[in-house]
Amino acid sequence: MSTHQTQVVIIGGGPSGLLLSQLLHCKGIRSIVLEKHTREYVLGRIRAGVLEHGFVNLMREAGCSGRLNREGEIHAGFHIAHQGRLDRIDLAKHTGGETVMVYGQTEVTRDLYEARDVMGGVILHDVQNVQPHALKDARAYVTWEQDGAAHRADCDFIVGADGFHGVSRKSIPAEVLKEYEKVYPFGWLGVLSETPPVAQELIYARHERGFALCSLRSRVLSRYYIQVPLTDRAEDWSDAAFWTELKRRLPEQVAGQLETGPSIEKSIAPLRSFVAEPMRYGNLFLAGDAAHIVPPTGAKGLNSAASDIYYLYHGFLGHYLQGDSTALDRYSEQALARVWKAERFSWWMTNLLHRFPQGTETDLRLQRADLDYLFSSEAAQASLAENYVGLPY
Ligand code: APR
Ligand code: PHB
Repeated sequence: MSTHQTQVVIIGGGPSGLLLSQLLHCKGIRSIVLEKHTREYVLGRIRAGVLEHGFVNLMREAGCSGRLNREGEIHAGFHIAHQGRLDRIDLAKHTGGETVMVYGQTEVTRDLYEARDVMGGVILHDVQNVQPHALKDARAYVTWEQDGAAHRADCDFIVGADGFHGVSRKSIPAEVLKEYEKVYPFGWLGVLSETPPVAQELIYARHERGFALCSLRSRVLSRYYIQVPLTDRAEDWSDAAFWTELKRRLPEQVAGQLETGPSIEKSIAPLRSFVAEPMRYGNLFLAGDAAHIVPPTGAKGLNSAASDIYYLYHGFLGHYLQGDSTALDRYSEQALARVWKAERFSWWMTNLLHRFPQGTETDLRLQRADLDYLFSSEAAQASLAENYVGLPY
């Protein structure tokens, strides 16, 4: 068995793990990233594309913001379509000038990989049977296999950034871990197409036939979604059927402008709210999707991962550079306080805009009242805007 020595072992080479290893390396803290899949596989995943300003600041601090600054689009508002109307939420007006950046998560991940390469960061791909050990001892270690050989890394801490299906959360004893979950009775069918976006800004649409979202990656790349039953399969949706259904759910003036084309990616994602508590067990810290999932309405998935990384990074800085572990000891509590607010917001926005198959007439009237209230109250719009641009860390 070959043995490595490091300070932090990071399990998972998604955006959470890569961002943390990059931030730590910039401050001289050593880490190893263990990723189960190839880099091509990780970069093949299409995920959301709206970044809070706090996330953008972290990318700057990590020295990874060159392309994002050039190619990311600043959005100062978005639209909500409902009852044939198109209303706008002015993010900047309600937040003292805050905005979001539209830039795909896949591109964020690509930029992080490139930055890691430039610094000579250690990222091991295609590793199998990753297992954390000695979580309650003075030092922890992680074992794994690569190309048939056994490996071990001794470390001070392990970070579980291995997504919802990873091994890290499962290493916390069941009697310690409490899981909260809500599964929604529908999914989102997403299509990526090389067509100009239908509008400059995002459009979230509430419609009797179900929710729809018009999003984008650039001026020549669009991302659209429609709410579908969980029993649907992406391969059963032809491009033509998708465009027809999307148009039916959009206000006429928008549908008339929609430019369609062949899909270059098509997939269905179920909607789920999930939180695991605590986010620390001994030497193991959970971050990102490993600890929490939000439904995509509101685009809080990647952004909640980023706030975890912010708290964890500052915890490690205190521990390694100042000899003060107070922030590290408060990690779980601090991260969860913000996570639950993102969970609340995503749940609220999901309820506001989706059609619930078992919903009653009363539910529908309450939903309509929620929308009427939103667009008749500056305070309600300010609350939505404050959450959408991202609550402070
Ligand atoms: N060993 C090593 N790596 C693993 C293991 C394992 N046992 N299990 C999973 N992984 C890897 C996955 O292959 C994946 O690349 O961990 C990575 C986790 O990445 P993500 O699922 O992308 O999670 P995270 O980095 O927390 O990113 C936050 O924000 O928008 C949301 O869900 C979206 O991925 C996004 C997330
Ligand atoms: C996306 O562009 O993929 C996207 C945007 C906003 C959301 C969800 C997904 O709320």
